[in-house]
Amino acid sequence: MKKSLLIAALLATYSFAYSAKGMVTYKKLCSSCHGPAFKGAAMLESEEWREMFDNSAQNLKNIHKNDKSATKKINSGYFERRMKALRDFMMNNARDKGVVRSCDGLNCG
Ligand code: HEC
Repeated sequence: MKKSLLIAALLATYSFAYSAKGMVTYKKLCSSCHGPAFKGAAMLESEEWREMFDNSAQNLKNIHKNDKSATKKINSGYFERRMKALRDFMMNNARDKGVVRSCDGLNCG
């Protein structure tokens, strides 16, 4: 009984609707130009985010190709390592998800 309660508590902790890692990545790489994380995620619908991140984020790279500072960030090793978490965050909080969050007790974005 006690053990299952513990497991339930752990699951609740890890099953947030978004990836905190993805959000941190957004804050480091994107928010300087696109503003708070949930606002940035609402730029596109979830399918559009999926396409942005297809083929190692080829479309995202194309969109920013005239912006040196953005290109540098998107071509960084940090981006490569965290690309998947960032994509998951953007998709989970995309415009079509209809969630407008500001703070949820863990993070403000
Ligand atoms: C140095 C500034 C800068 C950074 C950093 C930056 N962007 Fe952008 N982004 C822009 C600019 C400028 C545009 C508009 C390009 C255009 O329309 O020609 C843009 C466009 C976009 C678009 C297209 C929006 C639309 O309405 O079609 C998306 C999506 C996007 N950025 C996502 C991101 C993500 C995700 C990151 C972080 C990995 C990021 N950007 C980092 C400057 C930046």
